[in-house]
Amino acid sequence: MEIPLVDLKANYVSIKKEIDDVIQHVLDETSFINGPYLEEFEQNFARFCNVKHAIGSSSGTSALHLALLAAGIKSGDEIITVPNTFIATTETISQVQGRINFVDVKPDTALIDIDYLKKKITSKTRALIVVHLYGQMPDMKHIKEIADDHDLFLIEDAAQAHAAEWQGHQPGYYGDIATFSFFPAKNLGCYGDGGAVVTNNDDLAEHIRLLLNHGRKQKYKHYIEGYNYRLDALQAAILNKKLQHLQGWTEKRRMHAAFYNKHLSENIKKPVEASNAKHVYYMYEIQAPKREELRNFLQKHGIHTGIHYPIPLHLQPAYEHLKIEKGSYPVSEHLADNILSIPMYPELTKDQLRYIVDHINRFYD
Ligand SMILES: Cc1ncc(COP(=O)(O)O)c(C=O)c1O
Repeated sequence: MEIPLVDLKANYVSIKKEIDDVIQHVLDETSFINGPYLEEFEQNFARFCNVKHAIGSSSGTSALHLALLAAGIKSGDEIITVPNTFIATTETISQVQGRINFVDVKPDTALIDIDYLKKKITSKTRALIVVHLYGQMPDMKHIKEIADDHDLFLIEDAAQAHAAEWQGHQPGYYGDIATFSFFPAKNLGCYGDGGAVVTNNDDLAEHIRLLLNHGRKQKYKHYIEGYNYRLDALQAAILNKKLQHLQGWTEKRRMHAAFYNKHLSENIKKPVEASNAKHVYYMYEIQAPKREELRNFLQKHGIHTGIHYPIPLHLQPAYEHLKIEKGSYPVSEHLADNILSIPMYPELTKDQLRYIVDHINRFYD
């Protein structure tokens, strides 16, 4: 049996007719930039997230960049985030001349350590990017209280957390802004690059709309210098179709996670879902003794795995100039050495799930 980490083909095949039809419509109408497909998706995605504004963007990275620009970050402002995330979270901080201030994470959830966060806030801290890693949100109510107390702009990096919840609220409720990625492998993924910014703040939404479309409201009237960070209509049309399935796909991910939780060996640490959280399992991440041997064993039996992420950001060559020593963020470093992502996607069958569980358990017998 051959089981990929994520099966994009199985997903496409399951909705082939509706996707092929909508792509043909966009082609027939040659409506590629802005226009009704984008507007419809933005309205539907805002309704889905229960926020006032959703603005399509060209990627999750440009969404983060727009959020930081809209936050008004100035040179030397400090932005707090975690080291165990994808580099887009921090490279956009550098792109607005901000300074990265890392906070370590909790060993059970791999999410920001809130007690540690309180200690790292300085007089220069202006914003906080909370990463909903693997599809789970941390205690956003508490984090929002801290952000309000210190007058920090709160950004939720929800690239991995479409439809996730904390106390019944999705990304965008607690933060000033939440950003999403629609990279193909994401829980809601398009067929290229795409992303979105969501917010309940009218002024932020208006500013972001200007920034992402060359600073213009009408065709050749530019109010500010901006960017070309638009989501194109073909991707918006595809996302509109896929959005109708997102809730069902999320429930399937959660069912597969429940199966793994129940049947996987006690020798491995399984992901912890906080009681107030709805985890959407973008990744099902285990902490596995003898990880490399397990990985090779699974690979030999056709089971593909991943590591998200193998090098914490503070130890990446790109951040050598920050001169942060190994050992500075021990939990993130420990996770990088021990975590393993095992196959997780809605179309996984019971036979595939059993095969994966049997092989992992057999390895530890
Ligand atoms: C946590 C996180 N933030 C940001 C991004 C960037 O998204 P994109 O690849 O759409 O630019 C990703 C995508 O992998 C991500 O996982």
